[in-house]
This record gives sequence, structure tokens and C-alpha cells, in this order.
Amino acid sequence: MRAMNLHSKYPAISDLRQAAQRRIPHFVWEYLDSATGTEATKARNRAKLDEILMMPSILHGEFEADLSTSLLGRKMPLPFGIAPVGMSGLIWPNAERILAQSAAELDVPYTLSTVATRTPEEVADVLGAQGWFQMYPPRDEGIRTDMLNRAKAAGFHTLVLTVDVPVASRRERQLRGGLQQPPKLTPRLLAQVARCPAWALGTARLGMPRMRLMDSYLDHVAGQTEGLSSTAHVGYLLRTSPDWEYVQWLRDNWEGHFIVKGVLNAEDAPRLEGAGVDAIWLSNHAGRQFDAAPAAIEVLPQMRAATSLPLIYDSAISGGLDILRALALGADFVMMGRAWHYALGALGAAGPAHLAAILRADMVANMGQIGAKDLSTLSKKLYTD
Ligand SMILES: Cc1cc2nc3c(=O)[nH]c(=O)nc-3n(C[C@H](O)[C@H](O)[C@H](O)COP(=O)(O)O)c2cc1C
Repeated sequence: MRAMNLHSKYPAISDLRQAAQRRIPHFVWEYLDSATGTEATKARNRAKLDEILMMPSILHGEFEADLSTSLLGRKMPLPFGIAPVGMSGLIWPNAERILAQSAAELDVPYTLSTVATRTPEEVADVLGAQGWFQMYPPRDEGIRTDMLNRAKAAGFHTLVLTVDVPVASRRERQLRGGLQQPPKLTPRLLAQVARCPAWALGTARLGMPRMRLMDSYLDHVAGQTEGLSSTAHVGYLLRTSPDWEYVQWLRDNWEGHFIVKGVLNAEDAPRLEGAGVDAIWLSNHAGRQFDAAPAAIEVLPQMRAATSLPLIYDSAISGGLDILRALALGADFVMMGRAWHYALGALGAAGPAHLAAILRADMVANMGQIGAKDLSTLSKKLYTD
């Protein structure tokens, strides 16, 4: 479809979401779209973003908005990138490679999850200059070291440690949906797959998605995990609840930039700074972990006040205006998880570029409304009564 047609058919992320829901089997959709509990935190993330207002500006003349920024010493053409999503290739066939390649073309960061369906090596040939590797912490020091070495050798220069999964969360909607690990197709799920031919064909071609990086370490722990299911194997391999010592170990053993993801409490910022972390990634995991958490955007001003480290924001970004809101409140950069997968579900490999085009157009239009020529002026445009 030509670019113009795409903009009239899918002008917003909500259009991509709607199309994706039709094209992704229901049990997979529930994995992608759900949060935990009654999904109050997910709703709060959205509601609190909507409360952030900016004052429109008049008579500021014509200008071309500059969307570039810098992060960790690097010039960025756009202020957003791709957050890690586990089992990404289950959501859409070949997702990791498509996203890595799209990120390379856009020159934005792509974060590969430890529990993705592709290993670092399997995306290395399409990975651009901005590969970030997200780590769920392996217990075993040997595996940990090996993972870091493999990520580095595959071209990932930034390490992201996710710390907001101290225990596995209960995602009731996902459980009801029937997804198992590794995915097993019961007759009920097969009927859902049959209604989604593009997903079914792609998945048939590539084989049932698995956590391949995890699979590569199964032999390592074979003797110790006799009789465990493969989910339990992953649970054994990955220690979900790292501590401050673990952070220090990673800092001492990783030469590149090191980011800690899933921080909400501003009181943790000074200690992270002291541990030599290069940036803080503020997120409540899009409401997928804890249903009484504050909205991520709500705590952003406190976090900004608590540290001079670069701040990366995610959770509930649904358009360019939300990106401007987060930047205005003190974020240096914004990441998205679900939106990229809605784009893949709606448009396949053409999705990520179209999503970026939507975000760009939305940012430019809104910067015109508030008279912001570049991103550094956004905080002055906030409206507080
Ligand atoms: C289906 C799904 C899987 C996710 N898997 C991971 C993961 O493996 N590692 C991680 O750090 N965060 C994971 N996240 C959280 C995202 O990185 C990110 O924090 C969140 O999706 C941002 O909110 P948004 O989806 O509203 O943009 C996942 C999110 C979703 C929706």
C-alpha cells in the first residue's frame, strides 16, 4: 500500500491496534494486550498521560520542527525506540528480525529481550548501530558471562537490566487466553489460528516460536532440573529477583552503557547513580506487573528532580503527543513496546516504518500547535493551572 493510503487507512496507533487484533490469534493477542489484575494500572497510565496539558501558542510564525535529540553521547534523529518484548516472534512471525532491521533503517534503538524468540546472533546481520540487549538475570555466573559475551559479539553495545519482575506476575487475561510456554496448540487455539491466515502461514514457515536463547542453555542445567517443564527450566535459569550486588556485578563486567529498567521510586535514583548506572528507564512494565503501581508518567517529575542521569520513559505511549508529554516532564527518550507489535500485526514488515511516520507527523503537528521548534523547549510549554 502506498504511503498516502496507509495514512488515510491507519492514521493512528489505535487503527493499527484494531487491525492487529483481527490478524493475531486471540490467545496471542491476550498475551500482547493484557496487564495484571483488573488492569487499573494500565488504565491509570493512560488517564494520567491525558491529564498533562500544554498551552497552545499563537503568532509564532512558520518553522520546521526539529525532532532530533541526544542520548548517552549519541545523536538521535528521533526521540523514541523499541522496548524489549518477550516472545516477540510469537506475536508476529519474524518480529525480532523485522524490528531490528526497521530500527536500523530509522536509526533508533532496538532492544532484544532475553526471552525473545531469536538469539542475539540471529539478529546480528540486520542489527544497526543501536542494538540494546535486555537482560533477565541468569542465576549462574557462567551463563551470565556467556550471555554478555554473546550479546556484545553480536553487536549489542548497551545493556538493559530489567528489575521490575521480582516475581512472576499473574496476568489473568493471558491465563484465560490459554497461552502456554512453549506454546501448545489445543483444538480451541487452533480454531483461533485458522482465522488468522497471515500469522498461521508465517508461523508455519518459521516453526513454533521458542525462547531460543534460553533453549541454548538447557543442557547447562540438565542435571539440576530433571523432570521440570521447559517453563520451569527458564524459571531455574533466570533469577527474577536480582539485588544491588547483582547490579554491581553487571556494571563491573559490562564495558558498554548500562541501563536499569523498571524503576518507579525516585528514592532509588541516587543509589543507581552511585552504582555507575548510565541511565534510568522509568516504567511500570505497562501495568503488567503490579496493579497498585502509580502511573509511570505520574512519578516522572520526582525522578527528574532526583537525578541528573538520562531518563528513558515507557508505558502507554499511544501517539506523538504522548512522547512530547513525557519529554516535557523531563524524560530524555521514550520507548514503546506494544505499539510496534500492533504495527507488525496490522501491516507486517511495513508496519514499523508506518508507525514511525505516524509518530513523526503527530509530533510535528503538535509542536506546531505549541510553538516548540525543538524538543529542548517542551518543558516551557507545560500548562499548570
Ligand atoms: C507482550 C509484552 C512482553 C514484554 N516482555 C518484556 C521483556 O521480555 N522484558 C522487558 O524488560 N520488558 C518486557 N515488556 C515491557 C516492555 O518492555 C515495556 O516496558 C512496555 O511494553 C511499555 O509499555 P507500552 O507497551 O504501553 O509501550 C513486555 C511488554 C509486553 C506488552
